[in-house]
Amino acid sequence: MASKLELNDLIRRDNFIDGKWVAAASGKRFGVTNPATGEVIADVADSSEADARAAADAAARAFPAWRDALPRDRAAVLHRWHDLIMENANALGRLISLEQGKPFAEGRGEVLYGASYVKWFADEATRIYGDIIPQQQRGKRMTAVKEPVGIVAAITPWNFPLAMIARKIAPALAAGCTVVGKPAEDTPLTALALVLLAQEAGVPPGVLNLITASRENAVPAVAAWLHDSRVRKITFTGSTPVGKYLARESAETLKKLSLELGGNAPFIVFDDADLDAAVTGLLASKFRNGGQTCVSPNRVYVQSGVYEKFGDMLAKRVAALKVAPATDPDAQIGPMINARAIDKIARHVDDAVAQGARILAGGKRLDALGPNYYAPTVLLDATPQMQLSCEETFGPIVPLFRFDDEAEAIRSANDTPFGLASYFYSQDIRRIDRVSRGLEAGIVGINEGALASEAAPFGGVKESGYGREGSKYGLDDYLSIRYLCQGCLE
Ligand code: SIN
Repeated sequence: MASKLELNDLIRRDNFIDGKWVAAASGKRFGVTNPATGEVIADVADSSEADARAAADAAARAFPAWRDALPRDRAAVLHRWHDLIMENANALGRLISLEQGKPFAEGRGEVLYGASYVKWFADEATRIYGDIIPQQQRGKRMTAVKEPVGIVAAITPWNFPLAMIARKIAPALAAGCTVVGKPAEDTPLTALALVLLAQEAGVPPGVLNLITASRENAVPAVAAWLHDSRVRKITFTGSTPVGKYLARESAETLKKLSLELGGNAPFIVFDDADLDAAVTGLLASKFRNGGQTCVSPNRVYVQSGVYEKFGDMLAKRVAALKVAPATDPDAQIGPMINARAIDKIARHVDDAVAQGARILAGGKRLDALGPNYYAPTVLLDATPQMQLSCEETFGPIVPLFRFDDEAEAIRSANDTPFGLASYFYSQDIRRIDRVSRGLEAGIVGINEGALASEAAPFGGVKESGYGREGSKYGLDDYLSIRYLCQGCLE
C-alpha cells in the first residue's frame, strides 16, 4: 500500500480485530451521514457484544508480547504511525470535514494536533522510569517499577474524531498496553482510517482493535468490556452522564478510569482587561469547531463597566463569521453534528429570549444552508435561571452575564458541578494571582483562549472527571506501579 493515500483509499467499513478487517458477527451495518447534507457517506459495521468480546480476546492474546517489547521498538512503531498521519494530513482533514462538518482548515489542524500526541508519546515511551527507594534496612533493596495496566478500552466522541482517539491510543501503546476502541457512531470513519495507518505502521495484530456500533448497539457492545475483568482500564471522553454510567458499571471489576467529561466553562472579562485581546481569545476558544468543544466557554461573565462595550465589540466580530459547508474554503463555522444538537441550541436560545435575553447577533437557524446550521449568536442580559447557564449548549452561542465585583465573578464561575476549563482576562497582576487560584477547574486560561497542547495536562475536576491526557502526566493513567522488595542481600 502506498503511504500517501486519497480520501477514498482511507475509507474502511469493517471492524479491525486481531490485525484483520472483519464484518460485524451479526452482519449488520449502519449509515454514517454528512452533517452538511444529511447524505449517507458509508455503511459501517454495527457491532454487538460478540464483536467486543472478539476484540478483547485479541487484545488479551497480544498483550504479553507488546508489554515485553523494548520501549524503543514500541516508540519506533508510534513514530512510523505519526509520519503516516502527517503524510496523509490533507486526506484525513477532508475525511474529518466530511463526517464531522468542521471547515477543512480546522479538520487539517485537528490532524496535526492529533499527530502531535502520537509523536509526544512515541518519545515518552522510552522515558518510563521507576525509582530506587533509599535504603531503609540493611540487606534489603526496595524499588518501584512502572508497568502497563493491561487492556485499555478507549471510547471516544464525535467532536474531534481523530485527536481524541489518537491521544488515548498513543499513550496506551507507548506504555505497553493493548487497546480495544469504539468511536462515536456519528464519526467512525476517521478512527477507522487512523487504525488503517496504524496497521501500515506495523502495529502488531491484536495490539490495536477497533469496533464501530450504532447508537442502539453501542451500549451492549461496550458493556461487554465493562464486565470483562481482563479489561483493566477505561478511557472516555464525552458527557458526564455517560462517564458516571461507565464508572458505575465498571466498578464491579474495579477498573482504572480516565474520564474527560462535560465542561460548562466560564470566561470572565474584568474591567481592566485588554478588550481587543479578550474578544480575540473568546472567538478562538468559543468558535473552535463551532462551539462543539468541551473546553468551549459556555458562560461569559463581563464586568459592568465594560459590559455594553464588550458586547458591541464581540457582536461585530461574530456577525462577520462565515458559516458555510466545510467544502467552502472561506468557511469558519460548519454545520452542527446532527438534528439533536441543533434542536438543543435552538431550545437554549428560545428559552433565554423568553426570559429576557437580547439578541445582539445571530439567534436563528440557517436552513437555507442545510439541515444543521445555526447562526453564531451573541446574547445580552443572560441570567443564571436560563437553561444555557446550567447546561452545556455545545454550539455557537455566547451568552453575556453581567457582574459587579471579583468575588461575585468567581462565585458565579464556580457555581456549577463542572470544572474542566475556565478563562479570564485581566491586566492586574494581583488579581491574576487571586483568580487563577480561585477558579475550580483543571485548566485555566489567563489572557489566553487557545489552551490545548500535547505538552500540557488536559483534564478536569469535580464532575468534569479525572485523569489527564497529554504531557508527562498523561502516561501515568496507563501505568501501574509495582514495588519490589528484595531481601537476604547481606
Ligand atoms: C474536547 O474534549 O472537546 C476538547 C479537546 C481539546 O480541546 O483538545
